[in-house]
Amino acid sequence: MSDFGHIPVLCPHVVRLLAPRPGQTLADCTAGLGGHAVALAQAALAAGGPLAHIVLNDFDPANLARATAAAQALPSPASPSSPPAITPIRGNFAALPQELASLAIRADIVLADIGFASSQMDDASRGMSFMRDGPLDMRMDPAGPITAADLVNRSSEQELFRILREFGEERDAGRIVRAIVKARAAAPITTTAALAEVIRQAMPPSFKQITGIDPSTRTFQALRIAVNDELGNLDGLLDAIADAARAAGRGSPTWLAPGARIAIISFHSLEDRAVKRAFAALVAAGLGTDSRGSITEADDAERHANPRSRSAKMRVLTIN
Ligand SMILES: C[S@@+](CC[C@H](N)C(=O)[O-])C[C@H]1O[C@@H](n2cnc3c(N)ncnc32)[C@H](O)[C@@H]1O
Repeated sequence: MSDFGHIPVLCPHVVRLLAPRPGQTLADCTAGLGGHAVALAQAALAAGGPLAHIVLNDFDPANLARATAAAQALPSPASPSSPPAITPIRGNFAALPQELASLAIRADIVLADIGFASSQMDDASRGMSFMRDGPLDMRMDPAGPITAADLVNRSSEQELFRILREFGEERDAGRIVRAIVKARAAAPITTTAALAEVIRQAMPPSFKQITGIDPSTRTFQALRIAVNDELGNLDGLLDAIADAARAAGRGSPTWLAPGARIAIISFHSLEDRAVKRAFAALVAAGLGTDSRGSITEADDAERHANPRSRSAKMRVLTIN
């Protein structure tokens, strides 16, 4: 566990399935607090020597700095090995493949642990949680083009309904959206507490007792996914992986080294479906091998210790 009570999800499985070896290059698309990157670097050391290169990518500059500091604090390898080169890249992982190609970096191991980090959810000023009052922001990238307040106050009723249904699987989307539209006609909704209150008023008082979740849970998840274009970014990464696998199949060098292993951890059924389809298409085309087509999920002990792991699903692909 690191700062912010952060426990990297499925960490022993990530290390086992990505099986880092000395001299390899790791591209961590979602560096976060550096938990997985450090574990992978330590596993390479335990296997006989350091990684050659650790690329850390995140579009949240504060997290990128945390992950970089964690990687820089790794113990030095025994001489004569040099420590891994560390390259922090601030940006969207959908653009990382192009960036790696332009830097002539070829990754042996790629990890994407998508979604938010505890440092973001627990910081009231980021406006992601209905449990903490703050500005209705929700951007993981503080320079991102839209905030949750923009969506809540400016989207059409139909668009808000689509977001809540599609990204939140919110059965009461109609009722919640009608309440939002009525409330914002009186005054813009600008804080997490104000939005949570509008939703609470719109739902039956028994909702939490019956479902076991706060009535705001699905709306906040849906808005966060929309604000950060989480599905669009995942599609961008999956397309870049497919392009590289096809190029590798033609014998052209790409940002993926031959035999590169890619692990994607997702937390939403729409994301997992996209990963499953993309990996299955590459396996069917003979361009990749997946780990028995299987999915890795947290066991009971991890689910208990880290509630966020309950919805985590990891798929791994090896480029042929
Ligand atoms: C779940 S955390 C990663 C935690 C990390 N694996 C660890 O062990 O510390 C997800 C991180 O990915 C970043 N992120 C999410 N979507 C991103 C995207 N499209 N591009 C770049 N970074 C992204 C978030 O800012 C966050 O820091």
